[in-house]
Amino acid sequence: MIMQNSLITKLPQIAVAGRKEAVKIIERVECSQGVSLQIDEYVQPLMFGNIVENGAVPVGEWCNRLLYGDNLVLMEALLAGDPATGLLPLKGKIDLIYIDPPYASRSNYLTRCTLPGCKGTFVLEQQAFTDTWEEGMAGYLRMLYPRLLLMRELLSEKGSLIVHLDWHAAHYVKVLLDDIYGRENFRNEIAWCYGGGGAPKNTYPKKHDLLLWYTKGSTWTFNRQFRPYTQGTLERGLTAVKGDQYKLRKEGAGLDDWWAGKDVQKILSPTAYENLKFNTQKPEGLLKRIISGHSNKGDLIADFFCGTGTTGAAAEKLGRRWIMADSSKLAFMIAYKRLLAQQSKPFFSQSRHDCTYPSCGRLELKKSVVRSSAGMDEITVELGDYIIPAQVHLPLPVKVREQIQELITADPLALIEYWMVDPDYDGKVFHSKWQSCRGQRGEDLRVDSRAILLVPKVVGTRKICVKAVDVFGCESMASQIVSN
Ligand SMILES: C[S@@+](CC[C@H](N)C(=O)[O-])C[C@H]1O[C@@H](n2cnc3c(N)ncnc32)[C@H](O)[C@@H]1O
Repeated sequence: MIMQNSLITKLPQIAVAGRKEAVKIIERVECSQGVSLQIDEYVQPLMFGNIVENGAVPVGEWCNRLLYGDNLVLMEALLAGDPATGLLPLKGKIDLIYIDPPYASRSNYLTRCTLPGCKGTFVLEQQAFTDTWEEGMAGYLRMLYPRLLLMRELLSEKGSLIVHLDWHAAHYVKVLLDDIYGRENFRNEIAWCYGGGGAPKNTYPKKHDLLLWYTKGSTWTFNRQFRPYTQGTLERGLTAVKGDQYKLRKEGAGLDDWWAGKDVQKILSPTAYENLKFNTQKPEGLLKRIISGHSNKGDLIADFFCGTGTTGAAAEKLGRRWIMADSSKLAFMIAYKRLLAQQSKPFFSQSRHDCTYPSCGRLELKKSVVRSSAGMDEITVELGDYIIPAQVHLPLPVKVREQIQELITADPLALIEYWMVDPDYDGKVFHSKWQSCRGQRGEDLRVDSRAILLVPKVVGTRKICVKAVDVFGCESMASQIVSN
C-alpha cells in the first residue's frame, strides 16, 4: 500500500507543476516578454601590472558571463536575449551544462576568510547558502524541476547535462531527469570517489558522489579519456585473456564510470593552493575531466549553481567559453576573485535590475592625480576611508563581532574584499580595468590602497569611478572628475 502523502505520491504533482512553471517562462520568452539582465561590469582582469587595455565593451561578439541571482530568472533572461545590450538569445546554444546544486542535505554551508585583526588575525565565518527545504525532499525537487527543464531548452542539439549529486537526492532527481530528458537519453551514472573525513562504525563510510549524465538527443560529444593500466594488467598483458591481437595501448585503458585518484582528488587540505574556503568547492581536476570529455575547444559551457566558479575556471583554461551563475553573493565574490587571479579573458558581470548587491558602506577617495607623458596618462587613485555604520548587525559570534567592530574603528579598509577602477566611467556600464583583491595569507590580507594606471591620454576631463566590495558583500562606489 502506498502511504498517502508519501514522496512517491507527490512526484507526479511536482512534475506537472514544474512543467507548467517552465512552460510559462518559455511562453513569456517566445512573446518577447522575458526578463532581461543589466551588465553591471565589463571586467578586464589586470591584477598584476598597470598598463590598462583600451578595449570597449564588446558588441556582437562572445564575452564570458558571470551572473548573480536566482538561476530560474537568469535562465529566462538567457533564453530571451536582450536587444538593449546586444546579447543574443541562447536557446539551443549551450554545449555542456554541469551543475552541482544543493543536495537536499539539510545543512548550512559556510565560507571562511581570514582578517587582519587589531590583536592578530581572526577568521570570519559566514553562511554562503542553505540546503534546507520547506516540505523537505519534495520542496527540493519542486525547486529543481523547472530549472532542469529550462536547461534542456538552453542545450544545443548535441549538448550534454551533467548533474552532480550524492546519496541524499540522486535517485529522486534521476526520476525527474528521466521525465524531462527521456530515459533513452540517460548515458551514464559516474561515481566520483574520494577519501578523507570520518568513518562510522555501523555503516560503510559514504565516499562517493554521483554524476548523472544526460544528452539532449541521440548524438553527442564524447572525447574518450584514458587511465593507466593496473599493475596486474601491465604484468599480465591483455593477450593472455583476449588473444594475441590485443596489445596494451600506450594511452592506457579507457576511463570507467567510476573516478578516483589524484587527478580528481577532493580538496582536503585546508592549506591547499586551490582551497577557497567554501564548504562545497569541487576540485578543478574533476571539472577539467568533465569538460574535456564532453565538449570541444570553443564550445559554450554553463554552470548555473557555480559556487566558487570551478567550472568557469577550468573551462577558461581549456579554451572553452563559459557562463556561470550563483544566487549567493559570497559565492559570486569568490568566483569573481578567482577569475581575476587567474587573469581570465574579459567577462561580463551581470544581474537582474532588482537583484543588486546590498549597499551599506560609504567609500571616500583621496584626490586622484593625473600625470601626462607621451600619449599616456598615469592616474593615481587612492582609497581614503571606508565608512560602515557603527553598529553592524550581523549573525556572528559575539567575539567575532567585537573583533569586526574594532577593525571598523581602527582600519576599515581592511574589510574591503576587492576594489576596482574604471578610469572613464560612462555612467552606464562600469568598465573594470584595474583591480586589487585581498588574499588569504600574511602580507596579502589587505587590498592595495593605491592604484596606478597607465591609460591612453584623453583631451579634457575624465570621470574616474571606483567600486569596492567588502567582506560581507556590500558594494559602494565613488567617483571623481579629473583633468591633467
Ligand atoms: C554545491 S554548491 C556549488 C559548488 C561549486 N561546484 C564549486 O566548485 O564551488 C551549490 C551552489 O548553488 C548555489 N545556489 C543554490 N540555489 C541557487 C539558485 N536558485 N540559483 C543560483 N544559485 C543557487 C549556492 O549559492 C551554492 O553556491
